[in-house]
Amino acid sequence: MKSRSAPGPKEAPERRKVTTKSLLSMKQRGERIAALTAYDQLMAELVDQSGIDVILIGDSVAMVMQGHETTVGVTLEQMLYHSSLVARGVERALIVGDMPFMTFQVNADEALRNAGRLVKEAGVEAVKLEGGAPICGTVRRIVDVGIPVMGHLGLTPQSIHQFGTYQVRATTPEEADELRRDAKALQDAGAFAIVIEKVPADLAAEISASLTIPVIGIGAGPGCDGQILVSHDMLGLYTRFHPRFVRRYAEIAGEMRKAFQHYVGDVKAREFPSQAESY
Ligand code: KIV
Repeated sequence: MKSRSAPGPKEAPERRKVTTKSLLSMKQRGERIAALTAYDQLMAELVDQSGIDVILIGDSVAMVMQGHETTVGVTLEQMLYHSSLVARGVERALIVGDMPFMTFQVNADEALRNAGRLVKEAGVEAVKLEGGAPICGTVRRIVDVGIPVMGHLGLTPQSIHQFGTYQVRATTPEEADELRRDAKALQDAGAFAIVIEKVPADLAAEISASLTIPVIGIGAGPGCDGQILVSHDMLGLYTRFHPRFVRRYAEIAGEMRKAFQHYVGDVKAREFPSQAESY
């Protein structure tokens, strides 16, 4: 029978703060990196307590919390707000904040100023930027002042109006080569990790093996150094669509709907509150 006593030193969950350096060591020793999104203090605290390595305040907040059709509408002020809530809930994971559309594309100075605000005002420990070779000068500029940068390649949702669809990317030899070049360029520009979204698994595995920095996949197969999912997707909380790469670990939306209906029924039937719930 399992002992019910407190875990011994060997079993104690690893509470040491995750840094960009720890992620690199994890890649070097072949330990997979687990990452999830969060947008508020409560969710961040719950995710952090799971032993997650990276918490991303994704611009996916625009879709899963604000009800937008795409991620392009979220503003820097909104990301500052959500990031500051998350930072309050996290003790261990590395906190990465997404730079919203048009906060880093105009020029490197503006990008640096905005990245600095996410770090200083909201408490993120790294920023994530979508794009490859064309933004490497900006990545270098941000890294050079001491702000770690995570790249994002493959399906880059901020460019949805250019691509027109959320279909799998880098399926032609030319696009695959471009992805390889972009990944290497981001590494050379000083990025500490790269998210690769919705590309063929073999290509993502090949790129992961070819880089020294960790590659974190989403819809990019099992050969990446880590995986990331949107928490609201994997919880079954955001159910507007269900891409094949999302494994649902719970069906929270259904549970919430049931609880809300139960409550409404109890109020209507005068079964809530009871004597015990009254003063
Ligand atoms: O915005 C987001 O949540 C993301 C992840 C899907 C990687 O960029």
